Amino acid sequence: PGNPEGTCQRRGHTGKCPKQEHVFDLVCSILCYFPHELYTFQDLLFCFSVIDVSSGDPHKNGIKPLSFIRQVLAVCLYPELLKEEGLSLDVRLRTQMLLKACDGGSVGSYTASSGLPHVRQSIADFISRRDAGVSSCAEHVFISTGSQVALKLLASGEGEAQTGVLTPIPCPHTLPTLMDIYGVKLVPYQLKEELDWAVDVHELHQVLTTARRHCQPRSIYISNPGNPTGHVQDRKSIEEVIQFAAAEGLLLLVDEVFQDCVYGQDREFISYKKVLFEMDKQYSETVQLISFHSLSSACIGECGLRAGYMETVNLDPEVLHFIDTLLCTDINTPVTGQLALDVMVNPPKPGDLSYDTYTQEILLSQATLSHNAQRAWEFLNGLPGMSCQPAMGGIYLYPRLHLPPEIIEQYKHSKTAILTFADVYGSTPGQKRRVPKDEVFSRKSHKTIVFHFESC
Ligand SMILES: Cc1ncc(COP(=O)(O)O)c(C=O)c1O
Repeated sequence: PGNPEGTCQRRGHTGKCPKQEHVFDLVCSILCYFPHELYTFQDLLFCFSVIDVSSGDPHKNGIKPLSFIRQVLAVCLYPELLKEEGLSLDVRLRTQMLLKACDGGSVGSYTASSGLPHVRQSIADFISRRDAGVSSCAEHVFISTGSQVALKLLASGEGEAQTGVLTPIPCPHTLPTLMDIYGVKLVPYQLKEELDWAVDVHELHQVLTTARRHCQPRSIYISNPGNPTGHVQDRKSIEEVIQFAAAEGLLLLVDEVFQDCVYGQDREFISYKKVLFEMDKQYSETVQLISFHSLSSACIGECGLRAGYMETVNLDPEVLHFIDTLLCTDINTPVTGQLALDVMVNPPKPGDLSYDTYTQEILLSQATLSHNAQRAWEFLNGLPGMSCQPAMGGIYLYPRLHLPPEIIEQYKHSKTAILTFADVYGSTPGQKRRVPKDEVFSRKSHKTIVFHFESC
């Protein structure tokens, strides 16, 4: 608690804060009231120790950068370091290769809007290896600033002609805003919490039928491993979604940014692309798919370097041309991010000098995330009035807060605000109050937890 006097110095309020103790006390009492006046999130920041993990930023919360990525970037930025004798051979060779791929041998030069051809090829090779040999073509890989640029593609029409995207609820907290900015209509479909946040195809059909009366649904968005639910789809579930998309002529937009972080028992990451290519030709040669991955991934966590990619499958060449044109508006993705992407998809191999360190660092990140997910899950399920599905992957948990009916009734009458746990942007339509988990659970005492003040 940042304010030992128990006074709230913001908004001219001089009285005692109704709850001045650790946020943990609020957890135990589930909620407390602030009569007469709504407190803003900043007010509460003033009163309590708050760790904001809403951005899902691993480095901000203590995950360490991978040494090999940083060493390669350091030398790329300052090639004079190549003269250093202590530089390991694989860092030297990788740097030289990457600098050769940059115009003028410098990270300071422009690149093609869709990214450096060398890095696009590395990404295509990575996808092929990851998907047990399924072919991937560098021309269908587009590097962009972050992973969700594909949504821009869909912007079209207004009113009933507006493009709709079937979007899971709950969904990544930035998604509704992005869709709004890009002029795309969010068509919500509810994930099934009681079935480990499964996608329910029956629900998809219903939602689609209704949505067609109001807009033009052209796509379905999937987050797998799921943000903020932590679920990981199995092959059967992925096949069902693909069949649905095929039957309804929808483009699949699949966010697979947490693919490097799956820890649920009997769960593994299987990409939509792999499943699609192992299905009949009626699917593998027709279903349109755009999948994303990003440097912001759970174990790499270099979100500040701003680079991701999308791979397109079965898209019309004219659409590919359109994507290229669209990316021109940013000129190009920052070159350092592109080079880090190259290392992410093509890490040191056995026998390379950096291999052991790289592997240990990745394993440590994975173990930390998995361990914390387990601890956060146990913690949340141990709280009165909370329940939470197990996390299988990614960096979030999404617990349910069971409010006693009398509290809800009391709110309805007094119109006071309720302090709840929530993901900090938990204002997505249809969302209940949630809290994300983060690495903080292993480093800080249980008394620290993120909360959000919501005026209901
Ligand atoms: C589902 C999801 N997609 C993508 C990202 C990363 O986005 P970007 O690549 O724009 O940093 C995140 C980051 O937390 C995420 O949770």
